[in-house]
Amino acid sequence: MTVSAGPAPVGLFGQGAHEPYECALRLGGGTLTLRPAGQGSGPGDVSFDVQGWCAEATVLEVLLLQSLNGPVLDVGCGPGRLLSAAQSLGLAALGVDTSPEAVRYARGRGARALERSIFAVIPQSGSWGSILLLDGNIGIGGSVTALLRRCRQLIAAHGTLLVEVEADDVDVVFPAVLEDAEGHLSDPFCWARAGTSALASRAERTGWSVASTQRLQGRVFCRLRPV
Ligand SMILES: C[S@@+](CC[C@H](N)C(=O)[O-])C[C@H]1O[C@@H](n2cnc3c(N)ncnc32)[C@H](O)[C@@H]1O
Repeated sequence: MTVSAGPAPVGLFGQGAHEPYECALRLGGGTLTLRPAGQGSGPGDVSFDVQGWCAEATVLEVLLLQSLNGPVLDVGCGPGRLLSAAQSLGLAALGVDTSPEAVRYARGRGARALERSIFAVIPQSGSWGSILLLDGNIGIGGSVTALLRRCRQLIAAHGTLLVEVEADDVDVVFPAVLEDAEGHLSDPFCWARAGTSALASRAERTGWSVASTQRLQGRVFCRLRPV
């Protein structure tokens, strides 16, 4: 389902206007709500815990990383908890993120991160042993198909794309805004939300096969392999 209220916005996740994402990262915490832009009907709100993003990776996330081969590319790495956990496991890892504050934070904890879009030039194209799309990052850019195609260009022949999808069977693209607890809004940006079925149908059309799906601690992870 596509929910649209006019031309697609060109903003970036949580950026512009009152900069709620950059401010929350500077504070190292707070709750951010992702919701449809404007007054029209759309999918429900999603809450993000910024403190969790700024904390260490959870035990579950470390176990997932242990199962992967390097080098690891973390798409939308945020403040870099997965990068720093990957590095502690001896995996070469690089993050990319469009948020200057997220990249500054990730570098501050010793991780390698580039301030750029995943759709821009990325080093080691075709050589990444694993690519991560966690924490709702399958929504990046507002097109699951375009994002899977881009990751397909970047992955190594025997690599793994680890995607976290929603536990519900959601499949929606919409103009979104990010809002902090004080009601400070970002500019609108395109976002997507996808459950297992939505991912599987896009994967088939973009050169991936879904090798496994795991429900772990209320989160759902799919491993995709290039075909
Ligand atoms: C839902 S947040 C997830 C944060 C992160 N995974 C973490 O653990 O902190 C989405 C992240 O994707 C980044 N992002 C959005 N669009 C992007 C793009 N086109 N390329 C790279 N990163 C992007 C945002 O800046 C944000 O840090």
